[in-house]
Amino acid sequence: MNQDLDPQLAQQLEIERLDKLYAVLAHVNQAIVRMPTQADLFHTVCRVLVQQGGFGMAWVGWCNAATARLEPVAQHGDTHGYLQGINIYTDIRPEGMGPLGTALREERSYICNDIFNDPATLPWREAARRSGFRSSGAFVVRMRGAVAGALSVYALERNYFQDKEVALLQDVATDISFALDNYARREARRRADAAVAEYARQLQAMSRQLLEVQENERRLLARELHDSVGQELTALSLNLSMIRNALPPETAALVGPRLDDSQRLLEHTTQHLRHVMVTLRPPGLDELGLLAALKDHAQRVARRSGFILTVQGSEPRPRLPPTVEIALFRIVQEALNNTVKHAQATDITITVEGSDGRVRLCVTDNGCGFDPQRRAADGSTTGMGMTTMRERAQAVGASFALHSARGAGTTITLDVVRPA
Ligand SMILES: Nc1ncnc2c1ncn2[C@@H]1O[C@H](COP(=O)(O)OP(=O)(O)O)[C@@H](O)[C@H]1O
Ligand SMILES: [Mg+2]
Repeated sequence: MNQDLDPQLAQQLEIERLDKLYAVLAHVNQAIVRMPTQADLFHTVCRVLVQQGGFGMAWVGWCNAATARLEPVAQHGDTHGYLQGINIYTDIRPEGMGPLGTALREERSYICNDIFNDPATLPWREAARRSGFRSSGAFVVRMRGAVAGALSVYALERNYFQDKEVALLQDVATDISFALDNYARREARRRADAAVAEYARQLQAMSRQLLEVQENERRLLARELHDSVGQELTALSLNLSMIRNALPPETAALVGPRLDDSQRLLEHTTQHLRHVMVTLRPPGLDELGLLAALKDHAQRVARRSGFILTVQGSEPRPRLPPTVEIALFRIVQEALNNTVKHAQATDITITVEGSDGRVRLCVTDNGCGFDPQRRAADGSTTGMGMTTMRERAQAVGASFALHSARGAGTTITLDVVRPA
């Protein structure tokens, strides 16, 4: 209490001070919920202490472990530049022996109810006089239990800090400490999320590279097989026919069947080779484009499976980049595999449409459909086909959508947006 005042007036003032401090506490707790960052919270707390609490100035200092200096990180009400002219340390040099240094070292609040009569305030008295501060309170702020900084408030009157005021301001500091732990947890979480996102990005980039390398290798292999082995088999076949034709009748009767058998073997080998080449690299994709390659593939599947397969639409113009074309082709390949394997469909339609800005590719079957949510749970499939389709689409920046329901068939939709 201010001893200069009559007791009734002093009591009235005390009630007003406490009212203001309750308002401060309420505002601080709102700020803790609303403020997105530690810095925002500190600024708000300082402002509220001055505007609602009636203090001359409030600031938050943060301990710099390397320099042992308490660095101002937020303030409000410092109209006379008090903070610019002072240095406060947490160690035991003279500027560490004041209210704040003591509070931080001894991990307790330090109340100075008359700045000009406390020997501890000597180094800062001149600055306090300029600002009109008469009493001060220093309250420790913690992070995960350890002292991290301090909240300082300055009153323009002596003897401001009585037991209740101190208790309320300690509550403010405790609430800030609690909020800091939350920020720290949130920040740790954000960092972990960012790290996971970065790993996912790297993984995606790697899987894209892997797919590209794989497709390049396949293309090279297919070309090599076509250009060397394929040509040689053709030459071999020609040689065999010529030999067959040039044989005198008596020798032909002797080795003819062997030659015929060799010719048949050669034909089988050529067919095998063609099949391997087709698997390695869809025929026509490079030369004729996506639609032609899909038609060719669909025909092959139709011949094998007996389904009615329709390929409709038009070749995207200009053509999509080779990596996108091959990705779309492989996705359709897997979708058709699934349809043949799982759908019990009779009709399958592949549609390619759109040109300039975006291209849409759909594969629709009229089969049994399935519940995409429940697919993984029953353990009957690894779901690798679905995953690979999604990954291939993602790798080339296409969006992948699957629509399926029991009894209602299945549609997969791929959308490619061309860069502007
Ligand atoms: N067109 C489809 N019609 C019906 N069921 C399908 C279709 N496509 C996929 N499925 C279901 O989704 C599952 C997962 O497919 P996928 O990931 O390709 O794995 P897999 O084909 O190896 O089982 C399949 O086992 C099947 O139950
Ligand atoms: Mg599959």
